[in-house]
Amino acid sequence: MSQLFSPLTLRTRTFRNRLWVSPMCMYSAVDGIPQRWHHTHLAQFASGGAGLIMAEATAVVPEGRISPRDTGLWSDEQRDAWSGIVDDVHENGGLLGVQLAHAGRMASTWWPWADGRGSVPAEEGGWPTVAPSALAFDGYAQPTALDAQGIDDVVAAFAAAAQRAVDAGFDALEVHGAHGYLLHEFLSPLANVRDDEYGGSLENRARLLLRAVRAVREAAGDVMPVFVRLSATDYADGGFTPDEAARVGRWAMDAGADLVDVSSGGIVAGAHIDYRPGYQVPFAQTVRAAGEVPTAAVGLITSGEQAEQVLASGAADAVFAGREWLRDPHFGLRAAHELGDEVPWPPQYRRALWR
Ligand SMILES: Cc1cc2nc3c(=O)[nH]c(=O)nc-3n(C[C@H](O)[C@H](O)[C@H](O)COP(=O)(O)O)c2cc1C
Repeated sequence: MSQLFSPLTLRTRTFRNRLWVSPMCMYSAVDGIPQRWHHTHLAQFASGGAGLIMAEATAVVPEGRISPRDTGLWSDEQRDAWSGIVDDVHENGGLLGVQLAHAGRMASTWWPWADGRGSVPAEEGGWPTVAPSALAFDGYAQPTALDAQGIDDVVAAFAAAAQRAVDAGFDALEVHGAHGYLLHEFLSPLANVRDDEYGGSLENRARLLLRAVRAVREAAGDVMPVFVRLSATDYADGGFTPDEAARVGRWAMDAGADLVDVSSGGIVAGAHIDYRPGYQVPFAQTVRAAGEVPTAAVGLITSGEQAEQVLASGAADAVFAGREWLRDPHFGLRAAHELGDEVPWPPQYRRALWR
C-alpha cells in the first residue's frame, strides 16, 4: 500500500487516505446559504475517492465574505443547509471539513465571472471592509482598522461558526490564515502596522490567529481535527517568511490545531511566484521540520505518483489538491489505480473496472 492511500487518524477521525480536496470557493451561495450546486460538487469527490473534502472558505460574519456569493456559517439556516451536504458526503463514503474564514480587506469583491473587477460598490451590494490597519490591498477599497472590540467580535464569530459546523456534523475544521485574508493580514508586517498587542513582534501579529484557533478548538472539543492554513511566504521584502510560518505553526499546534496546511502568497498583488509542479512543497517541508508539526502540502500536485513523492520526501503528512479534482472528480480512484493500490470503488461504478 502506498503512503498516499494509507489512512491517517487525527483525533477521532480516520481519513481513508491522504489525498484530499483543497477548499475552493464556488461563488454560488445565496445569502451565505450553500445551494444544490454545493451538494453535487462536494458529494462527487466522496465517490471519487477523496480522503477528505474541505469545503470552501466559509465566512464567519457577512462582512467576512470574499464576494456576495460566498458561503457562510453565521446563521442557523446556513448550518442546516450544510448539514444536508454533510449527509450527502457521508452517504457517498467521504468525510467533509469546512474552512472558516474572514476575508478582511479583501472582502466585498466581485466573483471571478462577474462583469465587475475588484471591490463591489455599496450601491451594488458591497459593504465596508476591516483589516488590522487602514491599508488597502492594491486597487481595492480602503479598509477600517479593527479596534479591540472589533477583534474580540471576530474571535467570537469564529467560535460561533465553529460550533455551528460541529452541529452540522462536519468532520474537520480549518482556520483560514492564508491568501491575504484577515488572519494573514494580521500575520504580515506588510498589512499590519499596528502598535498595540496585535502588531509589531511575531507574537503580537500571531495573537489573533491563535485566539481564533483556541476558540475553534473549544467548539471542536477533543474529538474533531482542526487545521490551520498558512501562507508561508508573502514573496515580498519585509513580508511574512517560512521561518515565521514554522514558529506560528508550532504555536497553532500548542493552541489546539492538529495540522498546518501550507500554502503561500496573497498579501501583495503581482508578486513573482515561480509556479512549477509542487512549488509550495518546500514550504511545507520547512514548517514540518522546523515547527515539528504535521503538515499538508498543496499547489500544482496533479498525479498520484507526484503526491506519493511529496509524502515520501517527508515534506507532508497529507496532500491537498484543488484544480486536479475539478478536472477529474474521480482523481482519488485514478491515483490509487496509478499507484497500484486497491481501493473500494462505489459498487455502481465497478463495471468500469472490467476490461
Ligand atoms: C476555484 C478555486 C477556488 C479557491 N478557493 C479557495 C478557498 O476557498 N480557500 C483557500 O484556502 N484556497 C482556495 N483556493 C486555492 C486552492 O485551495 C489551492 O490551494 C490552489 O488552487 C493550489 O492547488 P492546486 O494547484 O492543486 O489547484 C481556490 C482555488 C481555486 C482553483
